[in-house]
Amino acid sequence: MRIVLVGPPGAGKGTQAAYLAKNLQIPHISTGDLFRANISQGTPLGVQAKSYMDAGNLVPDEVTIGMAEDRLEQSDAAGGFLLDGFPRNLKQAEALDGYLKGKGIALDAVLDLEVPEDEVVKRIAGRRICRKNSAHVFHAEYSKPKTEGVCDVCGGELYQRDDDHEDTVRKRLEVYHSETEPIIDYYKDQELVVTIPALGKVDEVTQRSMTALGRGA
Ligand code: AP5
Ligand code: MG
Repeated sequence: MRIVLVGPPGAGKGTQAAYLAKNLQIPHISTGDLFRANISQGTPLGVQAKSYMDAGNLVPDEVTIGMAEDRLEQSDAAGGFLLDGFPRNLKQAEALDGYLKGKGIALDAVLDLEVPEDEVVKRIAGRRICRKNSAHVFHAEYSKPKTEGVCDVCGGELYQRDDDHEDTVRKRLEVYHSETEPIIDYYKDQELVVTIPALGKVDEVTQRSMTALGRGA
């Protein structure tokens, strides 16, 4: 399956993507995680992306679209993928459509995770991620690691993301409403959007998503 996950910052895209990718046996491709890996490795791409991310702005399309397409070219994505955080504006959505059309393939679904803004703020405030792999996500209250400050998956140190501070979160939410929400209508026109109520336990949201994809238990 070829799936796009959308939803505001903190909606639980990364959390859900980890389970859905495992259940569906497709790679989880997060442009945010790709940028953070580049930042921690100190690559020129990471240096370029960091200032935009820290300010809560989108990294320019020229950089992002190329990076996403390079990742989609890798062999593990040939049979399907779960995109998390890409596309994030109309230009990226059109670029993805062009890329897929060029390959003779198409998206199967766009899952729109719907969470009220006050819940998103709580989820972000308590989020802790792993320094070794930012796809390992915890929450100080809702999803505690077994040992405080230590990643259950790989033993890495848990920390608060640089862009999870209040001002930046406000900016990211603004950017989501102005730049990213329009892609939901764009995909509604293609009859691809399924809205997933994303309040509730993580596994309940996963179940709703699997059912929406026709893969429910
Ligand atoms: P990115 O990393 O994609 O951040 P985001 O979209 O703001 O989303 P988040 O990762 O903050 O939230 P999430 O929905 O993944 O929530 P999570 O599962 O962690 O992007 C960061 C930056 O990179 C952007 O601002 C931009 O600068 C740049 N960027 C990335 N892609 C780009 C692109 N395409 N174009 C341009 N720039 C780009 O969950 C949040 C917390 O809630 C966790 O603590 C989790 O444990 C908890 N939680 C999850 N589900 C539940 C639940 N059901 N109940 C209780 N708690 C829950
Ligand atoms: Mg995420």
